[in-house]
Amino acid sequence: MKRARLDNFLRTRLDINRRDVRVLLARGCVKVDGVLATEINQVIDQFSHISLDDEVLQAYQPTYIMLNKPAGIVSATRDEKHTTVIDLLDCDDKASLHIVGRLDYNTTGLVLLTNDGSWSSRITEPDQKVSKRYRVTLEKPLTPEYTEAFAAGIYFAFEGITTRPAKLTILSGHLPEGHVAEVELLEGRYHQIKRMFGHMDNKVVALHRFSVGNLELDASLQPGESRALTEHEVNNIK
Ligand code: URA
Repeated sequence: MKRARLDNFLRTRLDINRRDVRVLLARGCVKVDGVLATEINQVIDQFSHISLDDEVLQAYQPTYIMLNKPAGIVSATRDEKHTTVIDLLDCDDKASLHIVGRLDYNTTGLVLLTNDGSWSSRITEPDQKVSKRYRVTLEKPLTPEYTEAFAAGIYFAFEGITTRPAKLTILSGHLPEGHVAEVELLEGRYHQIKRMFGHMDNKVVALHRFSVGNLELDASLQPGESRALTEHEVNNIK
């Protein structure tokens, strides 16, 4: 969550100088979260409710959404040509939202959106080790070597890095649709799963993210549908 000092917020928002800020505070005109503000260096954040007499200066509500992304949708907030994940949402404060871990154009499944930067950092920063789980359908059969290679990490020459250990579970054999695996990643590099399988010379034909950390895509959400996360989901994601 972005933190700032109250005096800096008031100076910018009202285009006044520091002395005028002191006058407003001394007169008891400013409230933060319903409480009279008296200190210029009071720390506020993007979700602090700030009012000046009867005028509301800031009143952002934190928003957390899960979307079941269909194929053929761009994980971007704006795009000239294509429908974006934001276009699919039915909420008022779309402009404030950002995507917590993008999915490729044809990848389906769980996308999280929020306006709370500290929450999204907790999920996307590699050191936080929040896993993302995918169901992957492949062109060719899978062998136990895949599991070993994914666990050891695969070298990406372009970035000059080796991917973090990833868990691959082979599911095909039980499934009518063909060669299917579940993959659990602890990071999110550009086209990571496609490139990992590309390294094994096996093409990904379908990719679906079904969980982020302990949060699973709600099975009742049809492709394109979204819902707000519950308070419990927001506070307990890990
Ligand atoms: N890996 C990919 O290759 N694509 C995605 O959309 C997500 C993970």
